[in-house]
Amino acid sequence: MRACQARIEAALDARLPAENRSPSRLHRAMRYAALGGGKRLRPLLTYATGRALDLPLDQLDGSACAVELIHVYSLIHDDLPAMDNDDLRRGKPTCHKAFDEATAILAGDALQALAFHVLAHDPSIRTSAESRISMIETLATASGSFGMVGGQAIDLEAVGKSLDLPSLENMHIRKTGALIRASVKLAVLAKTSLEAGLADGLDHYAKYIGLAFQIKDDILDEESDTQTLGKTQGKDRDYNKPNYPALLGLGGAKKKAEELHEAALESLAGFGSEADLLRELSRFIIERRS
Ligand code: IPE
Ligand code: IPE
Ligand code: MG
Ligand code: MG
Ligand code: MG
Repeated sequence: MRACQARIEAALDARLPAENRSPSRLHRAMRYAALGGGKRLRPLLTYATGRALDLPLDQLDGSACAVELIHVYSLIHDDLPAMDNDDLRRGKPTCHKAFDEATAILAGDALQALAFHVLAHDPSIRTSAESRISMIETLATASGSFGMVGGQAIDLEAVGKSLDLPSLENMHIRKTGALIRASVKLAVLAKTSLEAGLADGLDHYAKYIGLAFQIKDDILDEESDTQTLGKTQGKDRDYNKPNYPALLGLGGAKKKAEELHEAALESLAGFGSEADLLRELSRFIIERRS
């Protein structure tokens, strides 16, 4: 994991605009938010899927950067006063606190554009033009109103309301699951040919862990602490956000995450030890402390 984290840090650094290029404040904000923090789970999934498919990691750098850039943009906007109003992210002041709101909004916008620029142009991606277009489509769908942004809209509408379980699950699958699913799919699309059963298995795996990831995020918001999380603990409760512990209790939420992990492992039944990193990442998702 640490090797992949160092790899994505360098790959992002190389693709982000230099701070001294104009407009310098914007470029500083982009680099501030994107570099030097985070678990890098989405790039890790892209690389781990690549390993399961015997793809060279250097062919995945562009895809791994693209998903992380979308993720970072989503975090900057999620933290804005108009959304979750958070001061702390990845153990440091949120982008709008370190800079200002307008710069944070623009940094998010520019990171999103950069993600698609990378997918469209990055030389690390050596697939056919057709596969490259499928990658762009995959990330666009996962990011937009049927994916992450749609989930965020449902999240904001739901504040102070109680959602039933299917509605809560739908919200989580979109706001967090969609991008995690895309992280795996981008690596699948880099493979020239793949048996349909194996591709489906990976997609099912990604769906299960994507939901498990947000359930665990909800659990940590309830029972971890600000220092460990690097973001303010207890925000969901403070802001009356519907989440899994609120609906199922902590025990129920943990049980659900465990079941999803088991289902994720079953989805990888068609793979041997080459998918062990994916198996470990699934366990990491439900056992992580931050
Ligand atoms: C936090 O994501 C936001 C959610 C989608 C739940 P992560 O927990 O992956 O945040 P970083 O990237 O490690 O900071
Ligand atoms: C955020 O969910 C999901 C996205 C950023 C798309 P949360 O609002 O729960 O994430 P945290 O807890 O602030 O990281
Ligand atoms: Mg939020
Ligand atoms: Mg938030
Ligand atoms: Mg949260």
